[in-house]
Amino acid sequence: MATTPALSGCSAHSELNPGQLTSTARLPAPFTVPLPVPTPMKPSTTGAGGDRYAMTLRQADVEILPGYRTRIWGYDGTFPGPYLEARQGIATALTLTNALSVPIATHLHGALAPPTEDGFPTDLVYPASLADLADPAKTAAMSDMPGMPGMPSMADPLARTSALTRTYTFPMAQRAATLWYHDHRMDFTGAQVWKGLFGPCVVRDEREAALGLPCGPREIPLMITDRAFDADGQLIYPTSDPTLLGRPDMAKTIAAGAQGDVILVNGAPWPHLEVAAVRYRLRFVNASNARRYELTLDGPADSAFTQVGSDGGLLTTPLTHRTLHISPGERFDVVVDFSRYPVGSLVTLRNTAASGGPGQVMQFKVTSKAGDDSTIPTTLSTIETLTPTGTPHRLVFSRGADRWRINGTTFDPAKPLLHPQFGAVEEWRVLSTERHPFHLHGTQFQVLGRNTGGPGAYDHGWKDTVELSPGTEIRLAVRFDAYRGRFLAHCHNLEHEDMGMMATLSVS
Ligand code: C2O
Ligand code: CU
Repeated sequence: MATTPALSGCSAHSELNPGQLTSTARLPAPFTVPLPVPTPMKPSTTGAGGDRYAMTLRQADVEILPGYRTRIWGYDGTFPGPYLEARQGIATALTLTNALSVPIATHLHGALAPPTEDGFPTDLVYPASLADLADPAKTAAMSDMPGMPGMPSMADPLARTSALTRTYTFPMAQRAATLWYHDHRMDFTGAQVWKGLFGPCVVRDEREAALGLPCGPREIPLMITDRAFDADGQLIYPTSDPTLLGRPDMAKTIAAGAQGDVILVNGAPWPHLEVAAVRYRLRFVNASNARRYELTLDGPADSAFTQVGSDGGLLTTPLTHRTLHISPGERFDVVVDFSRYPVGSLVTLRNTAASGGPGQVMQFKVTSKAGDDSTIPTTLSTIETLTPTGTPHRLVFSRGADRWRINGTTFDPAKPLLHPQFGAVEEWRVLSTERHPFHLHGTQFQVLGRNTGGPGAYDHGWKDTVELSPGTEIRLAVRFDAYRGRFLAHCHNLEHEDMGMMATLSVS
């Protein structure tokens, strides 16, 4: 395999150690802040057009660290954004209003949506101050001048832009699963998600509801992110232009991926949750820009996670893991049985991939006994096995001199790198020189194997995000059978993504 030069100026950042930012704020003692448990947002209307929701993206000052107000950019001004609950077969119409100072694009990660609704990075919604940029007549003259305030770094004649607001309609013709939504603005996704533009979503269906898995207050989404805070309690994300309106210029120190030293779960630093000695369903989402986790449960009895679902919903049968590896963008739907611990136990969720602050995530306190009529059926769902035919597509993830590359090139929104055939089961072989979370829009895929072996422990079920590891070729079975058109494949390390590690797909 050819060796590739290091990113210029950041040779100190190996693939295992993206730039960790150091907080100077007063940090709380771990496990002193309560876990925020999200409750589903109420639709503004339900009926023939589906479930309608409206959110405004705006700046807000919120308490993340005790005693500080932190300026964030949030969906409805919250960090994370509101919890969306969708129902299979009933469309979700999400109207977003941009009250920020920057362009936005929103992607519902894990949704099967037509390309028009998929949040392509150049399908920008401009704020009032840049509304003219959404007018093709006015931008025609400017399109060869990327670098104008608010303009993406590359012109894209196919972009579907809008001013101030737009409605995304998701058909939700898909199985029950854990999804999440986040900003996807060309060149600035890392900075804008870091500021708070992300939130949880689940899709429910009747088959899953009939299984008897833990539900109601015993089913909790857990969105894990890392951040760093300065002495005023403000988020640290080094760039020389904090307005995010000029040319993209994230600091070299984070070009390998921004990592913070504070772990937040549902927006709270190292929180704690009181639980009864019963089974809980925990839906983990790694919403971090660049940090991967190796989660373990540390308590007074032997502990394990029972995985019931992956990115694309339920597995066929439950899997047991003592450690859960979760890379950025991935979801793991697990059941933890707290009845194996005596009342009064403290059970700590740790991240064994790091030490110090980032080595701890949250803590559960078992406070009472309670009845439990939940079950974990041995058969959860059926999944057809995809068997590819034809010549494999090949993708190579590598670094170039100062950009991250796929097949030797950086992202060009207007130039497809691959042309998957609609409806065909194709084999994709993805080879990487370093660790990257690989993500595909527009479908869910299956992992056939890694190098000459079978799938890894965390590769089971329908996936849309998988971890690539150094020198490993992963073989995927991919079928686009929902929509034709323009989609994306990319690295879900958001700084790598902003530095070119994306590819346009044209499904036809
Ligand atoms: Cu969650 Cu294209 O990303
Ligand atoms: Cu990457």
